[in-house]
Amino acid sequence: MKYSNRFPKTFFVSLVLLLFLASPTSSCTEQESNSLFHFLVGLSQDNGLTKSWQNGTDCCTWEGIRCSSEQMVTDVFLASRSLQGSISPFLSNLTGLLRINLSYNSLSGVLPMELVSSSSLIVLDVSFNQLNGGLQELPSSTPLRPLKVLNISSNLFSGQFPSTTWEVMKSLVTLNVSNNSFTGQIPTTFCVSSPSFAVLDLSYNQISGTIPAGLSNCSKLTSLGAGHNNLSGSLPGDLLNIALLEHLSFPNNYLEGSLGDISRLKNLVTLNLEGNGFGGDIPDSIGELKKLEEIHLGNNDMSGELPSTLINCTNLTTIDLKSNNFRGELTKVNFSNLPNLKTLDLMGNKFNGTIPESIYSCNNLIALRLSLNRFHGQLSEKIGNLKFLSFLSLVDISLTNITSAFQILKSCKNLTTLLIGLNFKHETMPQDDIIDGF
Ligand SMILES: *[C@@H]1O[C@H](CO)[C@@H](O)[C@H](O)[C@H]1NC(C)=O
Ligand SMILES: *[C@@H]1O[C@H](CO)[C@@H](O)[C@H](O)[C@H]1NC(C)=O
Ligand SMILES: *[C@@H]1O[C@H](CO)[C@@H](O)[C@H](O)[C@H]1NC(C)=O
Ligand SMILES: *[C@@H]1O[C@H](CO)[C@@H](O)[C@H](O)[C@H]1NC(C)=O
Ligand SMILES: *[C@@H]1O[C@H](CO)[C@@H](O)[C@H](O)[C@H]1NC(C)=O
Ligand SMILES: *[C@@H]1O[C@H](CO)[C@@H](O)[C@H](O)[C@H]1NC(C)=O
Ligand SMILES: *[C@@H]1O[C@H](CO)[C@@H](O)[C@H](O)[C@H]1NC(C)=O
Ligand SMILES: *[C@@H]1O[C@H](CO)[C@@H](O)[C@H](O)[C@H]1NC(C)=O
Ligand SMILES: *[C@@H]1O[C@H](CO)[C@@H](O)[C@H](O)[C@H]1NC(C)=O
Ligand SMILES: *[C@@H]1O[C@H](CO)[C@@H](O)[C@H](O)[C@H]1NC(C)=O
Ligand SMILES: *[C@@H]1O[C@H](CO)[C@@H](O)[C@H](O)[C@H]1NC(C)=O
Ligand SMILES: *[C@@H]1O[C@H](CO)[C@@H](O)[C@H](O)[C@H]1NC(C)=O
Repeated sequence: MKYSNRFPKTFFVSLVLLLFLASPTSSCTEQESNSLFHFLVGLSQDNGLTKSWQNGTDCCTWEGIRCSSEQMVTDVFLASRSLQGSISPFLSNLTGLLRINLSYNSLSGVLPMELVSSSSLIVLDVSFNQLNGGLQELPSSTPLRPLKVLNISSNLFSGQFPSTTWEVMKSLVTLNVSNNSFTGQIPTTFCVSSPSFAVLDLSYNQISGTIPAGLSNCSKLTSLGAGHNNLSGSLPGDLLNIALLEHLSFPNNYLEGSLGDISRLKNLVTLNLEGNGFGGDIPDSIGELKKLEEIHLGNNDMSGELPSTLINCTNLTTIDLKSNNFRGELTKVNFSNLPNLKTLDLMGNKFNGTIPESIYSCNNLIALRLSLNRFHGQLSEKIGNLKFLSFLSLVDISLTNITSAFQILKSCKNLTTLLIGLNFKHETMPQDDIIDGF
């Protein structure tokens, strides 16, 4: 009896709950759906979105839309939908909107400034589209804005890169504008009001001028990149005070001068200054950068010996020093301390002596390029230890004993590229049975 009494009660409660959930108050407002319709109308190719975005239905249920518990639109997530057309400024009328992700589409036209200066938006990702035109400057009198993440990379933006705009972004953490055609200089206005600024990527643009000293005020910066621009001058010394910096990347610019005391960047993981005009040597103190994984200094004008302290950077996976004037006997560096090394490129320097045997204990080595140096001697049979070695370039390093070299190289089972020309001077080609199998 007791049991059968309880049943209708539970049923009644469920019914009330159902009625409550289905009640008409839990739906987005007409103004919100109208703003979204304006966005839809701006698209020339919506890829079937109209099927889901129906007038008279709750816009919180539409594809790509998410709402808060108060039924306000918080997210427009329409990445990778093959959308074409333009981005309507009406999206900025969604007063509760927090995140827009329209990446990987074919959207064109301008990026409405109403979105960048929105008083609610915290994430705006329109990367990988064909948006063009300039990015209008926000006056410094604009009230502080909440935007944290702005990714407009890989578009067709051009014109002067904004400056005062960043002064009004009090919460800015990440800014990626790489792979556009911005001109102008690196602003000094980052971090003026955004103490959390952490990631700046300006690479692949036409930014010129010098690296401003003001960036050193960005004490939370972890990643700074502006490769493939027209920057000149030297690395400002106080840049090396940003203790949290993990990635410092300025390849393919016109920078010069010496590296300075980079050992202050204790958290550095990647150092990429390749393709500039840097001179001087690699300081001994580099050994203090225990987290260093990649060092790219190729195509510069650097000289001196490779510091033996490098072996204290035990996490190194890539060492690229090609086309510089480094010299001295490489045997001073004990490579066996670098078990993670995958790529070692020393091409086009003046290293001399024999190839250090310790290289052959870097079991994870995939690519080894020692071409165009002043080495001498015979190839060591220990090279057969390198199970993953697939690229080997030993051009013009005065190797001797071609018969032995070919026999040894037969044991490098994973080799797909071998460049060994301009060696073995005055030696005769070995018998067919030795070359056999190459
Ligand atoms: C949606 O429907 C309402 C009334 O049915 C109408 O007033 C409004 O213009 C429609 N909106 C759009 C974008 O079609
Ligand atoms: C919505 O935004 C557009 C463009 O920003 C503006 O012209 C329009 O007045 C706004 N409409 C409403 C109802 O707020
Ligand atoms: C936007 O969506 C793309 C594709 O799903 C994703 O890779 C990217 O991380 C998203 N952006 C943000 C800021 O979350
Ligand atoms: C755009 O940048 C943000 C912040 O770095 C990142 O989270 C997001 O994944 C990026 N978008 C794409 C499509 O990679
Ligand atoms: C910036 O975006 C590009 C793609 O457009 C990506 O390759 C790059 O890694 C991003 N930079 C950072 C620091 O995340
Ligand atoms: C630059 O953008 C184009 C077009 O979106 C893309 O195909 C290319 O991979 C990007 N290049 C880089 C270096 O991110
Ligand atoms: C760094 O910040 C301090 C205090 O906020 C300011 O006085 C100084 O001018 C800034 N330095 C640069 C180079 O912008
Ligand atoms: C070296 O790399 C490993 C794996 O990525 C990491 O756990 C370790 O903390 C790194 N060592 C240092 C000194 O950063
Ligand atoms: C490596 O670091 C240790 C401790 O930091 C130090 O004692 C040693 O001299 C360094 N080795 C080289 C070759 O610099
Ligand atoms: C290597 O070159 C240095 C000068 O850079 C010279 O002092 C040294 O004797 C040379 N070593 C050999 C083995 O040729
Ligand atoms: C050859 O190298 C590739 C990666 O470069 C690896 O996946 C493969 O296992 C290697 N083969 C052998 C026989 O070690
Ligand atoms: C060349 O190497 C072979 C071993 O592979 C050795 O027997 C021979 O003596 C070497 N020749 C010279 C001239 O060093």
